[in-house]
Amino acid sequence: MAEARAPGKAILFGEHAVVYGHPAVAVAIKAGVQVAVSVNKEWAVEGRPLDPTRHPHLKSIISRMPRESGTYSFQISSTLFSAAGQGSSAALSVAAHLALRKQIGEISSTIDAAKSAHLAEADAQSGRASPTDTATSALGGCIVVSSSLPPIAKHVFSAELKTSEGLRKWDVGTVDLQDDSNPPSLVLGFTGNSSKTGKMVAMVADLISSNPEKKHDLDSIGEITEVGLIALASSQWEAVGMAMNACHDRLVSLNLSTPHLERLIESVRPHSFGAKLTGAGGGGCMMALTKEPARVAQMIELCGAKAMISPLHNKGAQILG
Ligand code: PMV
Repeated sequence: MAEARAPGKAILFGEHAVVYGHPAVAVAIKAGVQVAVSVNKEWAVEGRPLDPTRHPHLKSIISRMPRESGTYSFQISSTLFSAAGQGSSAALSVAAHLALRKQIGEISSTIDAAKSAHLAEADAQSGRASPTDTATSALGGCIVVSSSLPPIAKHVFSAELKTSEGLRKWDVGTVDLQDDSNPPSLVLGFTGNSSKTGKMVAMVADLISSNPEKKHDLDSIGEITEVGLIALASSQWEAVGMAMNACHDRLVSLNLSTPHLERLIESVRPHSFGAKLTGAGGGGCMMALTKEPARVAQMIELCGAKAMISPLHNKGAQILG
């Protein structure tokens, strides 16, 4: 048996705009997905034959395994909210890739895991997926993804994808966050309504083709992200929060928020540096950056959502054994 674990992620700035080449900044969160693989007479998940329509990410990861490497059973456990904008499918793909490679005696790098998992996300999302979730889950820490990286980021690898809107290229980089003796925490609030990333990304593509002026919102998310990243790297938490709030306003303009997300965000802002929806929107999660995580988590629960507190710095994917 071989086992691997990969964390989920929270996007601080840049979701949706990153699909069009603008920068996005994400951090690995504490919760994640653990995958164990063991030899089996056929491909299986939790003791049942693998159904590719239920597990498109696993099907895609398997398609890149060397021929003749056998068939395996997956056991999956997750502490992430599912289909909630926490990158659960990216974490599943990264952990499954690492566990499978370990099982066949091949040690894969986290960069290879990020690349294979990105292809799995693209396969499952009708070809439109940025490498943000998968790179953050694989590498951990703070990740920037952009068609051209800002100077503050250290380049790690490049990714490209053919989409129906043309060839997309991204550079993936890491950013070192300063040590802060009393850093703020992230608090995520899950509305309980899952949201399909592929559907939300397609909705934005349709909105932009019918209202080309909406492209301006994506451009301004890109500009805010660059400013927010500099604030983040120098621990200027008030400025980070302002950039989060400003990104959220543009996501609202792109019809990605919901009344429940708005209620949650409004209720936690007085106790946070900033709060926004995170991930694809249309349900899923909001996030707050705060020095009062217990209080913010309580407000989220009072508004009928599930709260999760995470430190800002977390490790990337690991092979467990
Ligand atoms: O995986 P989610 O639901 O957190 O969304 C990912 C962020 C998007 O920018 C909406 C899509 C992408 O591929 O980058």
